[in-house]
Amino acid sequence: MFDDLKSHYATIRDRRIADTLDADRATAFAAMAGDLRLDYAKTQIDDTALGLLIGLLDGAGVAAKRDAMFAGRPINDTEGRAVLHTALRNLDGGPVMVDGQDVMPEVRATLDRMADFAASVRDGSYAGQGGPITDVVNIGIGGSDLGPKMGTLALAPYHDGPRCHFVSNVDPADIAGVLRSCDPATTLVIVASKTFTTIETMTNARTARDWMQAGGGDVAAQFVALSTAADKTADFGIDAARVLGFADWVGGRYSMWGPIGLSLMIAVGPDNFRDVLRGGQAMDTHFRDTPWAQNLPALLALIGLWHNQVCGHATRAVLPYDNTLSRLPAYLQQLEMESNGKGVALDGTPLPYNSGAVVWGEPGTNGQHAFYQLIHQGTRVIPCEFLVAARGHDESLHHQHQLLVANCLAQSEALMMGRTLDVARTKVAGQYEGAELERQAAHRVFPGNRPSITLSYPQLTPHMLGMLIALYEHRVFVEGVVLGVNSYDQWGVELGKELATSLQPVVEGKASADGKDGSTHALVAHLRGHGL
Ligand code: F6P
Repeated sequence: MFDDLKSHYATIRDRRIADTLDADRATAFAAMAGDLRLDYAKTQIDDTALGLLIGLLDGAGVAAKRDAMFAGRPINDTEGRAVLHTALRNLDGGPVMVDGQDVMPEVRATLDRMADFAASVRDGSYAGQGGPITDVVNIGIGGSDLGPKMGTLALAPYHDGPRCHFVSNVDPADIAGVLRSCDPATTLVIVASKTFTTIETMTNARTARDWMQAGGGDVAAQFVALSTAADKTADFGIDAARVLGFADWVGGRYSMWGPIGLSLMIAVGPDNFRDVLRGGQAMDTHFRDTPWAQNLPALLALIGLWHNQVCGHATRAVLPYDNTLSRLPAYLQQLEMESNGKGVALDGTPLPYNSGAVVWGEPGTNGQHAFYQLIHQGTRVIPCEFLVAARGHDESLHHQHQLLVANCLAQSEALMMGRTLDVARTKVAGQYEGAELERQAAHRVFPGNRPSITLSYPQLTPHMLGMLIALYEHRVFVEGVVLGVNSYDQWGVELGKELATSLQPVVEGKASADGKDGSTHALVAHLRGHGL
């Protein structure tokens, strides 16, 4: 599928991006969705490459599959489910049919229930045994943690509700640290789990229940469940009035738009939460209505395919120059790698090319003082994705924000321009001479021609956050369709879960490790020998 693109790349791979980058290219290789601008002029993609890449979309039938997704058809075909997280933000849209029924009345009713509850927590009319809620503890993992946590951090400037904590790891250090800082009489515990069976979440939920019972809180009143499994939430002891349900057509890693976003809604208030949804809906409209050459999700997917499948760059760094997006890379790791990290095509045959790229990153400027060395001079090329806002949220520190922006722009420029040996020589000419000058200069050469893209926007408002997250969701969709994988299942997480269950009695000393491989056997012996 990528042969033509690879042949073309072979002819242009040594071309210096900087030599092609005039004002025309800067305009042509950029696109807008509302106020969100994508610049991909600092890549090697040219008109021919773009044409071939867009041909991939037509060849894979992306437009028809996009319409099938929005229409509620069961495109998650290993689980027989529709993929309709878009319905959760379809605030001003028409009906969305699943199995002949419009799901929007239920979606709107649930959103209203969330908003009523969040408002009552925020204004104190809903209180714990000891008075108004001071702390919210969201217990969940994966999509039941990363979305609301990332969003709550991202919208910190809008956070005027109670403190929010997020517990995900089964490591007792996680929950112990959080509970130590809370008062059970004024804490609201949210158990967020689509299935209500996830072992980490249920273990932490039981620990929190014991803590609340022992500390004078009221479990029946101060626990909320967010789940598709009403029977299981009742068994746990959570009052049906405090269960917010959603349908199985909302995938875990796509679920922050509905009940799983309750902690975010309590933090920033229902109006701001609705603005996040409106931002997501605006990106949905853009994705559906915009020609591919100007369509941000399609372009992001195509740039990713170009770098991963055509150029052979296996990883991609996501580098927000926006500290409040500190958890965006972690959020995208689940969104992208759980969705498109698949080894077989829809028909079950092995993928004849690589699956989706490895995604990683940290906010700038922190990363500059950590791993950027390898990005600039390491032997592997790592395409970079910068995110930057024109304005922060603190007017009085705008000069500091300008320094942040200067750093962001400098990095993409440095990656592209590099530094030649001649220039490096001039840098050390006064200090060294002869062979030592040559040796010192060699260490100061930057190969350059390293691709990056930049997403820029006026300010990280709730609306812009919604646009960004929906942008990445649709990017995953497009990439998945082109690769021919099911982006909406996650069978690859099952084997480890099964083995953890079988190993639990072994690590507890209730069953023998015989039958386990030699390495596992030895690890159990070593850990048990040291107090496990
Ligand atoms: O194990 C992976 C996974 O199923 C994710 O897809 C999901 O987001 C996470 O576990 C949590 O699942 P749940 O919300 O059902 O607890």
